[in-house]
Amino acid sequence: MEKYLDDTWKKGMKLRFDFNNMMAEFIGPEQGITFDQIKEMEDRLKSASLSLGQMRANGELEWMDLPYTQDQVVKDILDTANEVKEKFDAFVVLGIGGSALGPIAVQQALNHLHYNELSKEKRGGFPKFYVVDNVDPERMTALFDIIDVKKTMFNVITKSGSTSETMSQFLIIKDILKENLGDGYKDHIITTTDRKNGNLIKIAKAEGFKTFYIPAGVGGRFSELCPVGLLPAAMCGIDIEGLLAGAAYMDEMCKNQDVLKNPAYVAATLQFIAMQNGKNVSVMMPYADSLKYMADWYAQLWAESLGKRVDKQGMDVFVGQTPVKALGVTDQHSQVQLYTEGPFDKVITFITVDKYRCDVDIPHGYEDIPSIAFLGGHTMGELIKTEQMATEYALLKSKKLNNTIALPEVNAFTIGELLYFLEVQTAVMGELLNINAFDQPGVEEGKNATYAMFGRPGYDEKKKELDARPMKKENYIL
Ligand code: PA5
Repeated sequence: MEKYLDDTWKKGMKLRFDFNNMMAEFIGPEQGITFDQIKEMEDRLKSASLSLGQMRANGELEWMDLPYTQDQVVKDILDTANEVKEKFDAFVVLGIGGSALGPIAVQQALNHLHYNELSKEKRGGFPKFYVVDNVDPERMTALFDIIDVKKTMFNVITKSGSTSETMSQFLIIKDILKENLGDGYKDHIITTTDRKNGNLIKIAKAEGFKTFYIPAGVGGRFSELCPVGLLPAAMCGIDIEGLLAGAAYMDEMCKNQDVLKNPAYVAATLQFIAMQNGKNVSVMMPYADSLKYMADWYAQLWAESLGKRVDKQGMDVFVGQTPVKALGVTDQHSQVQLYTEGPFDKVITFITVDKYRCDVDIPHGYEDIPSIAFLGGHTMGELIKTEQMATEYALLKSKKLNNTIALPEVNAFTIGELLYFLEVQTAVMGELLNINAFDQPGVEEGKNATYAMFGRPGYDEKKKELDARPMKKENYIL
């Protein structure tokens, strides 16, 4: 698109990272960070940059190159979306973790907040959109109460091709489709998986399902900008080229070799120094309903990438910062009391929007009641922004570290920037913590235990290990 080539337009859409309220100058010397502390990190940041640069050059961080490597994939996705749009009323993602949170976050960010309730015409002719990540039987049953499987396309997304939740959902829907459509079921399933590894690719080939691939160097939680996220987004009419253009723009900023001017590097450094000072909780608080699920996506990215028992040398370190999701202003009336007056253990990251996509006037009324009348003549946009500034002030006053990522507006380009910024920040943080940010042994342990308990062949040893665990005592259960 033309505008993505226009430097002036892109500059106007640049994300801003405001870390004033992390600094001692503002927040005070007891809690705040000084420029000297940041400067002292320069050598470590340069090593991090070198290490990530090498990994990227070796093809281990393919997620970093997604903005540039997918011309053909994007074309295929857009063609597929156009075909699906013609024939189907609903598009259902079956996936979990990195295969679900990105699609949910981007759909919420870039589509109408009541997308599924709109008429098909108002949805631009695109199908309704659902994500079934959990294996709660009630949720699955409820889905079948509202969709017509004969008019539904299912997208099975799993990198490993073996995740129990996704594969059991797949088995269920395949059976139901077969019952309703006979051999036609194959035209209702698109798979997104690894090109070589796992069971799903074998099944997809044998069945002849339309398949999109997750590149080898793209892990689940770093996969939103590959077909994992792009296909579901395109299915809802989201501008996927804009997402990739925004990510490329952020990549340029995050390539800045002056690490002290590089937004993702500075953001990671501030979190790292804060963590060393006992800030073990990272709150993400968007002030926009459209960005509510960005905090969910971030929570997985931050927790699963950085919560690690061992460092790169295999030594026990038990690191990680616990992510917390909040929504402004809603959680001002729920969690902010804790943030302002509770322990000094958090960094709060606000995500703000300069220009909401629409605004609503607050009418004048009850002029005889000054404590209500003062609202009249303003807009809801003004109110939400004022409340964010007021919360920021309350935190500043109580010396609680906070920073802000400001989006000029919420559109495909700025969402691409935001996703990429947070991914690079996470990767840099992993380097500073000297851990592998791209594995998830703790998740694998739970997956393997499920396989053993559920009787998957090849898990006999794990089953024995589980059977040897201490049995629960009745007298501890009331
Ligand atoms: O980030 C990750 O790797 C995980 O959260 C995975 O996305 C999640 O466990 C699902 O895995 P898969 O895509 O292999 O089904």
